[in-house]
Amino acid sequence: MVQQILQHFKVWAGCAPIMIYRAPGRLNLIGEHTDYNQGYCLPAAIQQSVYFALAPAHETVVRSMDHGDQWYPGQSIGVPDWAIYFKGVMEWMKDKGYSWPYFKLMFGGDLPVGAGLSSSSAIVCGFIALLDEFSSWNVPTDQLTRFAVKAEQASGVDGGMMDQICIMNGKKDHALFIQCSDWTHRFVPIHLEGFRWLIADTGVRHRLIDSDYNKRSFACKSILRKLKTVFPELQSLSDCKGIAAETIRSLTDATEYAYLSYVLEENQRVLEMVNALHEHQVERVGNLLLEGHQGLKNKYQVSCDELDFLVAFSRQSGVARGARMMGGGFGGSTVHLVPVDQLETYKCGMANAYQNKFGRSPLIFPADIVDGVARIDF
Ligand code: GLA
Repeated sequence: MVQQILQHFKVWAGCAPIMIYRAPGRLNLIGEHTDYNQGYCLPAAIQQSVYFALAPAHETVVRSMDHGDQWYPGQSIGVPDWAIYFKGVMEWMKDKGYSWPYFKLMFGGDLPVGAGLSSSSAIVCGFIALLDEFSSWNVPTDQLTRFAVKAEQASGVDGGMMDQICIMNGKKDHALFIQCSDWTHRFVPIHLEGFRWLIADTGVRHRLIDSDYNKRSFACKSILRKLKTVFPELQSLSDCKGIAAETIRSLTDATEYAYLSYVLEENQRVLEMVNALHEHQVERVGNLLLEGHQGLKNKYQVSCDELDFLVAFSRQSGVARGARMMGGGFGGSTVHLVPVDQLETYKCGMANAYQNKFGRSPLIFPADIVDGVARIDF
């Protein structure tokens, strides 16, 4: 991938880049839709990444290697879809008083877009980290992460901070146990001897801006407002753990109650997952994945037929120890825990079953867990 972007850059820019950055996508083992509720989550950075090549120039221009088109920051009409994330970062940083020299930038990579693997956050985080170095801002990583979250929210998604914290800080073979109430994280080894994490992308594309994602995050804010009328000290839905179920029930309607109980149960699953991984309890890890999926499907209602099909396949296969949908939902990918010696059989079986049911093949690949955003030698 590095060689590919290097070659394309040279042809397009007529010179070599002075720096290349890589920003990984992420999987999430458990803890979905908990980040904007100040709960827990457990994501990890994956090998599939967005790459950025940059050289100084007389005018700033950003080019997409994959789309073959480019965007000038002054351009206000015909802004390509992909450019909103670059625009978001530049506008946010400018607003905060930062500036940068002119540059030519090309980006592209092997991270599928809209697959629930956080391609948009990879763009935002990679770009902001690269601009930081190029412009000698020296903003500490924690602050840069907060800027990345704000810049992405400015593009229209009322999202949390899980993806950006993970992409900025990822560590090889580890997940990040993130406590979203204070943005802190610690590393949890996630390698289970004899098993691999497998990602299966349904090919059902979502853009979080267009999906019901924002509706869920707005619903959570509205539930919190209701509960605060009786419990003014509450800061988030994750704080409702100690409140009796009957009290919550009396303050919410059935849908709101389902959303809230999902969030509380999912936080608990993250804690249990950390323990299960620590103690190498493979069966428990698998069951937690399946329980998480049921919660997302039935209570939080962010799944879809294709995601449910892949998870049902994992249950019926008798091979995978568990699986669940990942990310915002309404499409995108699933994660499966599969014994290494049955990986190929499982992949083929799943691809065939999916093809027979939906008439197209899912993209399936094992997840290599890697470091977060970094400058690459070339
Ligand atoms: C998307 C958002 C994240 C998070 C997940 C759901 O990936 O970007 O902040 O809310 O959905 O867990």
